[in-house]
Amino acid sequence: MKPIMKFSALILTSELVDKAEAAGGPARCLLTSVELDCDTLGTNGVLVRVQYSALNYKDALAASGNRGIVRKLPLIPGIDAVGTVVEPNGSGLQIGDEVLIAHAKFGTSHHGGLSSLARVPADWLVKLPVGLSAAEAATWGTAGFTAAQSVRQLLNHGISPESGEILVTGATGGVGVFAVQLLAKLGFSVTAATGKRERYDQLLKLGAEKVVPREEILDLSDSPLSKSRWAGVVDCVGGTTLNSAIRATQAGGCVTACGLVAGHELELTVYPFILRGIALCGIDSANVSQKYRQELWSVIASDWRLDVQDVSKEIGLLQVPDQIENLLKGLAFGRTLVQIPE
Ligand SMILES: NC(=O)c1ccc[n+]([C@@H]2O[C@H](COP(=O)([O-])OP(=O)(O)OC[C@H]3O[C@@H](n4cnc5c(N)ncnc54)[C@H](OP(=O)(O)O)[C@@H]3O)[C@@H](O)[C@H]2O)c1
Repeated sequence: MKPIMKFSALILTSELVDKAEAAGGPARCLLTSVELDCDTLGTNGVLVRVQYSALNYKDALAASGNRGIVRKLPLIPGIDAVGTVVEPNGSGLQIGDEVLIAHAKFGTSHHGGLSSLARVPADWLVKLPVGLSAAEAATWGTAGFTAAQSVRQLLNHGISPESGEILVTGATGGVGVFAVQLLAKLGFSVTAATGKRERYDQLLKLGAEKVVPREEILDLSDSPLSKSRWAGVVDCVGGTTLNSAIRATQAGGCVTACGLVAGHELELTVYPFILRGIALCGIDSANVSQKYRQELWSVIASDWRLDVQDVSKEIGLLQVPDQIENLLKGLAFGRTLVQIPE
């Protein structure tokens, strides 16, 4: 008889989501802690013992039952996971190999990483690059990878430290802290925009040259262009912030857009594009090829390696719901690493 392996996880159920929707209140964390049979994860794919997950804004949306993100119920959320292979299942991997899991479906339409076990197709796995510990890789996770993609786009568009100031919005968020640190490491002059006055010193310590209140970079006029200010922008928040940043980007500049915490709408004229030649680059960390993913991770583990201790705190699985509430309110700083019990 097949041995039954139990594992711990946080789960979102349809009952909880239906109840929350019926109540119609503000988004809040609906996760509950459970112990499940291994069979819950199915039998196909590579079984991974998850050591670390980390929390992203997308996890906060999933954990509060956002139907745009959650594609099946019940669901174990968690879009980030790093761990070791337990059952290779013909994948060519070895038992004990350290891997990270990354795929658009992981933690949204397939059980995710807030769990001590995960079972996924082999092509969702990236072997942990040499030089990066499991905790470091999970701290980078989707947020850090997205920051690295954004910085790479600026470089691809010819933006260099000589080009001028780079704006990072949502600078204390998961993507923001990595963008600030990485750009500073590469010699850029970084202006960090934040809503958290109490975090100015930390952003300066991470390498920002200037820190400004997030309202300072907004241009609420209906002018199609503002005074040229930025050589490049890593925007993590969208909405009016992204709109203002595009209009204040200098000729030949580049703006990357990855997030929507400040809004998903973008009302613009074509003038920033046809009078200043600005490039607007969308960043999608979920749908990149495994080859691209593996290659960027190896850069992260070598030339772009960062000291990640100052931008993360570690919690256990049971503390996740409280931290999700902080993420939903935009109160979190940097990255939250979740250590998963065996
Ligand atoms: N496209 C992709 O592949 C991809 C990948 C990862 C993340 N994302 C998206 O990128 C965004 C940032 O992700 P994250 O993981 O860094 O999230 P996060 O850790 O929750 O950080 C978001 C930050 O945005 C700022 N913020 C929050 N509410 C705001 C508002 N109403 N107006 C202006 N700023 C606000 C806050 O920073 P301050 O207090 O410092 O201003 C907050 O810490 C999210 O929308 C996420 O969904 C997209």
